Amino acid sequence: MKLQFDEINLLADMVGERDGVTRAEVAASGPMAGDAMKAFQRRSESGEIGFPHLPFQTALIDSIRKYAGQIRGSYDAVCLLGIGGSALGSWALDCAIRGPHPVQAAFSAKNPKLVILDNVDPSFVGAALDTMNPKKTLVVVVAKSGATAETMATFLIVEKWLRGALGGKTAQRIVAVTSAGHGDLAALAAREKYQTFAIPENVGGRFSVLSAVGLVPAALIGIDIRKLTRGAASITRDCWKSDIAGNPALRAALYHFLLLTRKSKTIQVAFPYSNRLWGTAFWFRQLWAESLGKAVNRSGETAHTGQTPVAALGATDQHSQVQLYIEGPNDKVFTFWAVNKFPNQGKIPNTKMDLAAFDYLRGQTLAKLISAEQKATAAAMVEAARPNCVFTLDRVDEEHLGAFLQVMEFETAFMGEFLSIDAFNQEGVELGKKFTFGLMGRAGYEAYADKFKAYEKKRANAKP
Ligand code: PA5
Repeated sequence: MKLQFDEINLLADMVGERDGVTRAEVAASGPMAGDAMKAFQRRSESGEIGFPHLPFQTALIDSIRKYAGQIRGSYDAVCLLGIGGSALGSWALDCAIRGPHPVQAAFSAKNPKLVILDNVDPSFVGAALDTMNPKKTLVVVVAKSGATAETMATFLIVEKWLRGALGGKTAQRIVAVTSAGHGDLAALAAREKYQTFAIPENVGGRFSVLSAVGLVPAALIGIDIRKLTRGAASITRDCWKSDIAGNPALRAALYHFLLLTRKSKTIQVAFPYSNRLWGTAFWFRQLWAESLGKAVNRSGETAHTGQTPVAALGATDQHSQVQLYIEGPNDKVFTFWAVNKFPNQGKIPNTKMDLAAFDYLRGQTLAKLISAEQKATAAAMVEAARPNCVFTLDRVDEEHLGAFLQVMEFETAFMGEFLSIDAFNQEGVELGKKFTFGLMGRAGYEAYADKFKAYEKKRANAKP
């Protein structure tokens, strides 16, 4: 397994001191980085934070594989109900391992297909149900809180759709992934005797892709979750090194911290040159945004910190976003995600057209072209003093993907330590959930309904 992080184009040597990190800044911050790593390690070892341990949970991994093996062949669609951290990891895995799905595809084409109902757009949900046969569908409902409005609403619709076809056998076709022993989804699962897998208390949604949240749907659609977790386990050892040279997650976090706090790079563009990694870019967007966007630091002081993640796809977005990236505000750091080996090279035929725009491409490959495009964009960015770095995966398979996801999670956790914020809460998300409960009439949330009324009054008064 080969996963590399190349930070050279983040250095002042390449893009100048105003926009790049000096070697002196890196050297001076090394001890701080090591201390932050150790502080996070203590939190992980105490059991406060659970994601670093997930790849080593062999009993859970075996039990998920056993369940998937028992039920295999009885369905041609897995319908996942969940949102945010309860859905994005599964999309990332499906897109990377069984893709590439077309950009922003709703559902995978492979059998069994994975249909992820994360949004509550009624036309989307209706159209999705039309693509599935309830007698051949396995429903996986994922919610750590067991209460998220979108997931509960979709569940009620899908449960009725299943019941219409299966009657008394409905419960056999529902799998619940939720917190053990608390929450209304856990209560329903116990009452109806759904097959249930637990989400550990110390693993938050956006860090849960290697828990049952991501592993159950992955195993059900035939992804090798042993290889996935093996890749994550092997990189975890590097992520506990206190020296940035040997720890790609710590090094990447340190550079991004210095670029954010000293060079005002308030935006990070995650820029995969691989359609297979497009789902992962969306998963990463949530991880980086929700973990680091915080109002207060650990001392309770106002911080309003974070680095806005943007997803771009190479080479497609070279013809859409790169004009802005190279000539617009110099407020971004670019993280390319490159791939060394593609499953097929995409040979360009030798056809001679006797026209310059065609003939130099004869006999070359698309794999070479996409790699050249990434390197060319990096060089153009350096010329325009835009700091950029590259994560290179040797190939997109289970082992490399598992390692990459784990590195991203560690990088995010280390960035949280550097910024001295709690990367593992999400009070902004919870506030939105409470307003939704209030607006939709859930008992106990009347105060939020009242707040909403006050807000509407304020709007009415503000009318020109
Ligand atoms: O990362 C998070 O904690 C959130 O994005 C949650 O995953 C999301 O809000 C869904 O929550 P739940 O799993 O409780 O339905």
